[in-house]
Amino acid sequence: MEQLHGRPQIGFQPAGMTRRDFVQGGAAVAAALGLSLTEVAEANARREAASQDSRPVNVAIVGVGSQGYGVDFKRALSVPGVKMKAVCDIYEPNLQRALKDVPGAKGYKDYREVMDLKDIEAVIIASPLYLHAPMAIAALESGKHVFTEKMMAYSIEDCKKMARASIDAKKVLQVGHQRRADVMYNHAWEMVAQKKVCGPITHVRAQWNRNGSWRRTLPKDTTDRHWNWRMYREYSRGLMAELGTHQIHAVNWFLGGPPVAVVGMGGLDYWKDGRTIFDNVEVIFEYANGVKLNYTSLTTNQFDGYYEQFMGKDGTLIISEEKATPSSYYREPTVEAEDWMKASATTHQGKHKEVGLKLDPEATKKLNKSGVKVGERTLTGAVAGKDSYLLEMEDFFNSVRTGAPVTCDWKEGLACCVAAIRANEAMEKRTRIDIKPQDYML
Ligand SMILES: NC(=O)c1ccc[n+]([C@@H]2O[C@H](COP(=O)([O-])OP(=O)(O)OC[C@H]3O[C@@H](n4cnc5c(N)ncnc54)[C@H](O)[C@@H]3O)[C@@H](O)[C@H]2O)c1
Repeated sequence: MEQLHGRPQIGFQPAGMTRRDFVQGGAAVAAALGLSLTEVAEANARREAASQDSRPVNVAIVGVGSQGYGVDFKRALSVPGVKMKAVCDIYEPNLQRALKDVPGAKGYKDYREVMDLKDIEAVIIASPLYLHAPMAIAALESGKHVFTEKMMAYSIEDCKKMARASIDAKKVLQVGHQRRADVMYNHAWEMVAQKKVCGPITHVRAQWNRNGSWRRTLPKDTTDRHWNWRMYREYSRGLMAELGTHQIHAVNWFLGGPPVAVVGMGGLDYWKDGRTIFDNVEVIFEYANGVKLNYTSLTTNQFDGYYEQFMGKDGTLIISEEKATPSSYYREPTVEAEDWMKASATTHQGKHKEVGLKLDPEATKKLNKSGVKVGERTLTGAVAGKDSYLLEMEDFFNSVRTGAPVTCDWKEGLACCVAAIRANEAMEKRTRIDIKPQDYML
């Protein structure tokens, strides 16, 4: 079994998982991604202890574009003890914009020079997808901890190389699927997976719909390929990777395992502007026990925005990162209301007499206290007002300092990448793809 920080890696059992275990959705599938409750408790205890530790950590960031500068760089600087010593970007205006915020930090154009710096302990990678693996592997091999943006890597094999590099180097590797750190998502996970307020889940629907070309206006001093890398298959895996993997991550987490098969249809049907990725995708994933995830992502109609909708025999839970889509729970009319449901002040009626409750874990003052448990998180201090990007960054630095398990590890990152790649393949080949258990294993 792989070792990280001298501990056995939890939850992933490459040697012991058979095809039968996998397809039948028994404990082995759950084990492929999830942690046992004892392990979760242990991870939480370690995180909580770690929150007291604000030992300085010297950090470098590679790729300070939209997400790298606007989110990762800024959130990292908000974490106590983080010292941003090096910033790397091949695009001068982006490099200078970030350097202005961190006087004393040095700028670099070549990421390999950053990996050679001896005083850097951790690297944040927010470059285009096709560069995640070479950059992360170089960082890990030079003994640095890594936070990489999602999707984990451009290919399944690249994800595995990154995982192996992290195991060999005994360094942290966290993937930027921030829903795992989100208080609302943890609350919803508890309702769906622990309290089973929807009963057994039989279907999931998720979508991320936008109305826009996704193409950015090109500054004079750069190339379309550099600026609009998302549009081209050499650098990007399109909608399934850029948007879908966040939502697949939540579904894998809530269902306790990754998908076993996928069918789909996609196309490049509207934005005929030279791009090579699909501009619409419609896929159905099959999970253990026949649960289906019906996933859509459009670029020509934004109706209903984005959300994940878990549907079970007793109710439906809708959760979204989008403020415009309030996360809510609808009880099926056939099910008697429990007291907490009757007591909720924010009920509303669905179209078919389902009784809806708006979910808002931040409504409670409890969130200002340390030690409060919300889903899989044990809060390590006040979280009210902190977004999931800041929480995931705090978790990353806690792991760097103490070896506490990361919030979204390579197993989860790999599983999302497998789902996106196999979905693209199913759409391309117009066929059902049975996902091999080996895809999820090192
Ligand atoms: N977690 C999230 O919610 C979220 C949201 C958006 C984007 N992302 C991810 O963040 C990553 C970056 O996306 P973005 O929208 O910021 O892209 P971007 O194009 O805005 O930024 C990428 C930056 O990397 C730089 N870069 C390109 N090649 C480089 C190289 N060889 N060396 C150093 N720098 C290089 C570019 O100049 C640019 O500044 C992607 O992996 C994307 O999927 C995550």
